Amino acid sequence: MASAIKKIGVLTGGGDCPWLNAAIRAVTKTAIFEHGIEVVGIEDAFQGVVEHRMKPLGAGDVSGILTHGGTFLGSSASCDPGRMPAGTNSQGEMIFEDIREECARGLAKRGIEALVVIGGDGTMSVASGFVTLGVNCVGVPKTIDNDLVGSDVTIGFSTAVEVATEALDRLHTTAMSHHRVIVTEVMGRNAGWIALHAGVASGADVVVIPEIEYDLGAICDFVRSRSQRGKRFSLICVSEGARGKGGERVVKEIDPSAPDPIRLGGVGELLADDIERETGIATRAVVLGHILRGGTPNASDRVLATRLGARAVELLAEGAQGRLVVMQGRGDRRGSAQLCAQAEAGGPG
Ligand code: F6P
Repeated sequence: MASAIKKIGVLTGGGDCPWLNAAIRAVTKTAIFEHGIEVVGIEDAFQGVVEHRMKPLGAGDVSGILTHGGTFLGSSASCDPGRMPAGTNSQGEMIFEDIREECARGLAKRGIEALVVIGGDGTMSVASGFVTLGVNCVGVPKTIDNDLVGSDVTIGFSTAVEVATEALDRLHTTAMSHHRVIVTEVMGRNAGWIALHAGVASGADVVVIPEIEYDLGAICDFVRSRSQRGKRFSLICVSEGARGKGGERVVKEIDPSAPDPIRLGGVGELLADDIERETGIATRAVVLGHILRGGTPNASDRVLATRLGARAVELLAEGAQGRLVVMQGRGDRRGSAQLCAQAEAGGPG
């Protein structure tokens, strides 16, 4: 079937993940070899659209990058052309301007008919704004957090769980040797998937997730009872979005210019201090943070990135508008959902 379009742009936005290069490769090779579509790589997400930083991508440009972490196109989590900082008003408050129409004209001038947008929720909401202005975008969701509605598993989650599990295994032996409690904080924003999976996989004694408020007294009783039974150490895995009963999430910083301004972090330290104070058992906090997003993707994420990247291009070639490619079922069905809308539970799109 002849492709509905001839030229597409591809960009990666938001926090990075190990598989982004694998997805760019799949998009580029599928476009060129399967559909005869030209591909333009856009640098640093929508920042590159604003600043016209784009380059044609050939098959050679994406050769050998399948296993490389990060994104060779670069990423930006803070650029929203619908809300560009434009100085301050007389009260000293930041003012913003919407330059999306200008961006749309810039893309059209280069013959770019649609974008493959690889990103998280912030990037997808920027993309959906462009869709409403008539710039077609198909999204490939990126998040280690596995918190996407309509997608049973997101790319990056599996590698993040593996990295966290390996770290927890290492912390297990050191906790045991020193008869300590070690509280390990993992990313995940408001979703406890990474903590839950890595915690179960590593045999952590306590797993604390945002979906269930934790009871400090119960955790301390459990740690004490293990100690009395001769297990003089405990391994605790806590998700960064967790909070104690009746408490608030621990916010590390707020960045008002970012689409998602809240940066979580610090609950591990807080919990470790509380446990040491209440139980008298030496307790340490370890934050895995961005380590979960670095390095090479595992086999499962490479396969997912390849499948979803290829499907995004197929959808564009078929003439689809404003879709988000997702994984449904047990990873054996590819679907697509309305970009940034509640996903349809139906069959593959
Ligand atoms: O959404 C991915 C994620 O890694 C979250 O788990 C984490 O809360 C956030 O991004 C960190 O963002 P940043 O890279 O801006 O610190």
